[in-house]
Amino acid sequence: MKIIILLVIAYLLGSIPSGVWIGKLFFKKDIRQFGSGNSGTTNTFRVLGKKAGIIVLLMDILKGTLATSLPVIFHITTINPLWFGVCAILGHTFPIFAGFKGGKAVATSAGMLLGYQPLFFIYSTVLFLICLFITSMVSLASMIAAVLITLSTFFIPYIAPMILEKQDWLLTIIAICVTTFIFYRHKDNIKRIKNGTENKVPFGLNKPK
Ligand code: G3P
Repeated sequence: MKIIILLVIAYLLGSIPSGVWIGKLFFKKDIRQFGSGNSGTTNTFRVLGKKAGIIVLLMDILKGTLATSLPVIFHITTINPLWFGVCAILGHTFPIFAGFKGGKAVATSAGMLLGYQPLFFIYSTVLFLICLFITSMVSLASMIAAVLITLSTFFIPYIAPMILEKQDWLLTIIAICVTTFIFYRHKDNIKRIKNGTENKVPFGLNKPK
């Protein structure tokens, strides 16, 4: 029973629609009606600016981290913490507090990694930043990084065990599912990338001139 309550709490944590609430509270704007229409970090930067973007990024990461830490906080060892991260990711994408219209699963998935394996989170962040530097597109960088992170769960334990100690099959399976889900959530971005109209950020090799 305790586990089920905590899984629901993890979902509710993930459901906190940081971008939507910050937009409505401080800017009187529903960011889902502007820019890409997404409620995540990238659109917050785009629509509400740097300060709001950084706050939403931190909040969205923290939701995943806190949810993944729940079993540790409540001394539960019979269930893998990753399941709590998964609930937070579902909350983030289908938030009960924002009409089930949420983000694209990227920042909260990163938060799950931070709560589960901090060094693997740092490694994943570096991968993402390299992808962002090359593409200058958050969406494309997120998708490529998600694939690379998933592949990394196979070989990192063998070449850099200090980052990921041992082969962790649950992490690999969840990474495959989350990556597939991230691609699905980016279907509109994929169309824009294909026809050359995807938004770029002013960073990296491909930044807008
Ligand atoms: O995390 C979402 C990002 O990958 C894309 O956001 O607003 O450009 O669709 P957006």
